[in-house]
Amino acid sequence: MMLVTALMAVTFIGCSSDDPKQTPAPPTPPPTPEEPVTPPAPTADSYNELYRPQIHFTPARNWMNDPNGMVYADGVYHLFYQYNPQGNSWGNMSWGHATSTDMIHWTEQAVALTRDALGDIFSGSAVIDHDNTAGFGADAMVAFYTSASEAGQQQSMAYSTDGGKNFTRYTANPIIKNNDDRQRDPKVFWHADSKQWIMSLAKGWSKGIEFFGSTDMKTWNKLSTFVVELPGRPEIQWECPDLIQFGNKWVLIVSVNPGGPILGSGTMYFVGQFDGKEFKADALDYPLWLDYGMDNYAGVTWSNTGNRKLLIGWMNNWSYAGDVPCSPWRSAMTLPRELKLTEFAGKPLLCCPVVSEIDKIASQWQEVSTEALPLDTQKSAYQLRLTVNTDKNTTITLSNSSEEKFVIDIYAATRTLAAKRSGATGKTFGTFSIPSMQAPLNVEGKDVIIDLFVDQSSIEILTKDGAMSMTNLVFPKSIYDHLFINGNASAQLRNLTRIW
Ligand code: FRU
Repeated sequence: MMLVTALMAVTFIGCSSDDPKQTPAPPTPPPTPEEPVTPPAPTADSYNELYRPQIHFTPARNWMNDPNGMVYADGVYHLFYQYNPQGNSWGNMSWGHATSTDMIHWTEQAVALTRDALGDIFSGSAVIDHDNTAGFGADAMVAFYTSASEAGQQQSMAYSTDGGKNFTRYTANPIIKNNDDRQRDPKVFWHADSKQWIMSLAKGWSKGIEFFGSTDMKTWNKLSTFVVELPGRPEIQWECPDLIQFGNKWVLIVSVNPGGPILGSGTMYFVGQFDGKEFKADALDYPLWLDYGMDNYAGVTWSNTGNRKLLIGWMNNWSYAGDVPCSPWRSAMTLPRELKLTEFAGKPLLCCPVVSEIDKIASQWQEVSTEALPLDTQKSAYQLRLTVNTDKNTTITLSNSSEEKFVIDIYAATRTLAAKRSGATGKTFGTFSIPSMQAPLNVEGKDVIIDLFVDQSSIEILTKDGAMSMTNLVFPKSIYDHLFINGNASAQLRNLTRIW
C-alpha cells in the first residue's frame, strides 16, 4: 500500500507544472456522452464471500476508494466512488456509480467516468444546477473531479441530463489548470449569501485548503487559502475537503494521510466562520477527529439534501488498504452518518450517528446476556447496544468459535474507550495489528450507551448520538457471535438484515 501512496505522490502529486519532462495537455475530447462501462451481473454467489460486508456498500468486484460526487436527486442518493474497473488494486482511477433510495440498499450502476486525454478521474463532487447557471440545462447534474496525469492535477467538469446515467465532459476542461499548488478533490456547493458556487480544493502534500468562487461553474476565481500547522504532524497530505454550514457555524472537514488519530489515514475537522471568501477557524485545540478508529477516511457529504448533512466515508486506511484480504472486491464504505454540530464540555463537537434509515433493516430489540448471541444468520450483521455503568471499568469481548477476539475496554477514571483488534484475526498484514485505538466517550452521565454495528469485516463503535465514533475493520473467519462482559453493563441486540 505504501507503494500506492508513493506512486500517487511521485506520478501525480509530485509533478510540478514547470517540470521540463512534462508534455502539454492534449486536446479535450468532444462533448459526446460516453459509452458506459457496465458492472458485472451479480450471480447467486455474489456478496457471500468470506469477509464480504452484508450491510455496507461494496462494489461486486474490483478496487474502490473515496466516495465521490455524492448528490441526492429525484428521490435517489447517488454514490460515485474511486474505482478501478480493471482490477483489485488502486489504478485506472474512474468513477464507479451506485444508487439507493435509502442510503442502505445499493444498486451498482455502470461506471460513470473513465480516464480521458486529461488523465485519470480522481475524487470530486456533484451538484444539481437547479437554475441552469452553467447552461447545461435546468437541474443538470454537474460533476467536478480532478484530472490527474503526469502533467499534474487539474480540475474538470462533466454533466448529466439523464439523472447520472450518462455524462458529457465539458469541452473547455480543465476549468482550473494545474499550478504549483497541485490541488485536488473539488467539493462544490451553492453559497446563497454571496450568490456563487464555492469550490474547496485540497493542496495534498502542500497542505491547506483553497477556496474558489464562480457564478457559472466555468470560470473560477481564487478566494482564499486556509491552513493550520498541526504540531507533531509535519509530513501529511490534506485531501478531500468539505465545507458545511450548521446554522451560524461552519465546519471544514479535511482528510489527512498519513497523520490520522493513530497512524495512517484520518479525518479531522475545523469549526469557524465562512463569509463567502474566507474560512476562519475558531481557536480550538486542533486536530479534532471525526472518528477515532483506523478506518473512516475521505468522507464527505451528499449535496442537495436540504438541512440533513449526510456523510459516508471510505472504510479503509491507506497504510494497508492495498493488502486487505478481500476478493474479488476490495474496500467498503462506512455506514452512512448524519452530521450534527453540538457542544460537549463547552466546546463544539461534530457528532456522526448512523442514519435513522438503518431501522429499515433492523429486527426488534432483544435483551441478551453473555455468551451466544441470538443471530438470525451467520451471513448477516447486527447492532449491539451496551448500557455501561461508568462507576467502574468494564471490558466487553466479542469472539467466535475460532477464538478470534475483539476487545473494548471502558475506563471509568478517564471516561475513555479503547478497542483492541490485535487478536481479532490471524491477519497481521502491514500496520493492521496495531495494539489499540483510544477515544474519549464525549458523553456525560453514569450510564453510557455504546452501540456496536457489527458486520462480517467491520465494527463501528458509537456512543449515544454519535458523540464518539470509532470505525475499524476486522477480519474474523466468521462473524463474532459471542459476547462476554467483565464489569457492569447490560446488552440488547437487534439483527440487521443483509442488503444484497
Ligand atoms: C484520497 C485520495 C484523493 C485522490 C484519490 C485518488 O484517498 O488520495 O486525494 O483524489 O484518493 O484515488
